[in-house]
Amino acid sequence: MKITFLLNGETTHVRGESPTRTVLEWLRETRQLTGTKEGCNEGDCGACTVMVTDAAGSRALNACLMLLPQIHGKALRTIEGISGPDGTLHPVQSAMIDHHGAQCGFCTPGFVVSMAAAHLQGRTDHDDVLAGNLCRCTGYAPIIRAAKATETAAVPDWMQADQAAVLTLDLTETAAEAAGVGPAIAQPDSADALATWYLAHPDATLIAGASDIGLWITKQLRDLGDIAFLNNCKDLQTITETDQAFRIGAGVTIKALRDAMAVPHPALAELLRRFASEQIRAAATLGGNIANGSPIGDAPPALIALGATLHLRQGDARRSLPLEDFFLDYGKQDRLPGEFVEAVTLPASAPGLRCYKLSKRFDQDISAVSGCFNLTLEGSIIASARIAFGGMAGVPKRALAVEAALIGRPFTEATFRAALPAFAQDFSPLDDMRASAGYRLEAAGNLALRYLQEISGDAGPGGRPNSVLGVRA
Ligand SMILES: Cc1cc2nc3c(=O)[nH]c(=O)nc-3n(C[C@H](O)[C@H](O)[C@H](O)COP(=O)(O)OP(=O)(O)OC[C@H]3O[C@@H](n4cnc5c(N)ncnc54)[C@H](O)[C@@H]3O)c2cc1C
Ligand code: FES
Ligand code: FES
Repeated sequence: MKITFLLNGETTHVRGESPTRTVLEWLRETRQLTGTKEGCNEGDCGACTVMVTDAAGSRALNACLMLLPQIHGKALRTIEGISGPDGTLHPVQSAMIDHHGAQCGFCTPGFVVSMAAAHLQGRTDHDDVLAGNLCRCTGYAPIIRAAKATETAAVPDWMQADQAAVLTLDLTETAAEAAGVGPAIAQPDSADALATWYLAHPDATLIAGASDIGLWITKQLRDLGDIAFLNNCKDLQTITETDQAFRIGAGVTIKALRDAMAVPHPALAELLRRFASEQIRAAATLGGNIANGSPIGDAPPALIALGATLHLRQGDARRSLPLEDFFLDYGKQDRLPGEFVEAVTLPASAPGLRCYKLSKRFDQDISAVSGCFNLTLEGSIIASARIAFGGMAGVPKRALAVEAALIGRPFTEATFRAALPAFAQDFSPLDDMRASAGYRLEAAGNLALRYLQEISGDAGPGGRPNSVLGVRA
């Protein structure tokens, strides 16, 4: 295995490393670039944040969940490369000093890299950008003040150089190839190549963003066997739009999906703002969020409420099914050996969609309950209803009894209150560390009432005008 990339501006080759070695471990232990810190080693704290650039641009990522083959052909910038080659401080570094943005300093390299990546992108949504960086001693106000102070500062030359420089890398040797002995490692460059390879290695582990799989390595010390890295399959990373639908490739990141859905599906985009952190969203893919079969993944309930269709592929054979039918039971999905998620299609518009995520923290937290509602009205009568929940069963699941209790009835509080008992027919939630069964059931009903109020224009902040669904006040 040979991996070629730019490390703080210098062409670097890595040979003979395990394909499941994390970039964080390699930086600290092999290159002694110890400015990048290890805090949680599970994507939660941001101490390991590095900047990665390719033709698509620059983004902040967690080095603790990134595997070496994933940086093949890219530019990696650590905290050591955020200041200039002659030691000139980056404007965010100077601002962190001026605004007293550090105390013990352990979190500071991660904050600075996140801030520098955001500064390069011209971002000013500092709270969102920094939600994946935790600081235990300084407090966030001075750090946000430092970020604000640099909004108009020029981007240093060395920060702009990576995007052009990656194009000059000689990548004739691929990052991974089938080994003579030991597990086979592949990094296919198209869905076709992936389909052929996976058919021949049906027990292999597919690695997309590694935001789940990284933890299998760092926390569960799992042996992944044969591996295919999906990050070079550019054709899985596209979103195509027709009049009626969006087709979203499995390799589209949550960050890219959020950006693309901001106008057509603002409720979905807003839900995705609450998905993990900036760093995780830039790595995590939609395909991974579906294929992992998690009952508390954020995308599936919203996509089910939208009536999404899932497209699966095994070799040259393709099949499509309603997304909800993919989730058979806890840990069990309708997926054949050698079959992978290729894409999802969504309707181009669904003005009645609203998505709610309940978690203990607003940012960077997994849902206790998430509820997604998508109703249409004819006059004041509910003509159709698709309601799906996460965290209420072993799989993301539709509330079919609640839907039936709503359809054909007036869009009124009386109708919704009469439908609430049906939640107990649809769901028997579990007690766990995130919430009790009783809380989950009550919260589900309350989310239905919140939906009614929002659509009726009676919800205060976040409410939408009545005209959205044609509701008559
Ligand atoms: C700190 C942290 C916070 C998180 N917060 C959230 C959150 O708020 N909401 C949420 O929903 N999730 C969250 N997650 C979980 C995770 O980020 C998501 O599930 C993510 O979408 C997984 O995508 P990935 O590309 O990283 O998948 P990977 O880790 O690469 O893979 C996950 C699984 O999907 C399989 N897979 C990947 N792509 C395909 C494909 N195309 N076809 C078939 N199988 C495939 C893999 O083999 C593996 O089984 C969080 C994770 C971390 C570490
Ligand atoms: S070490 Fe905490 S996010 Fe990577
Ligand atoms: S300065 Fe100590 S953790 Fe942030």
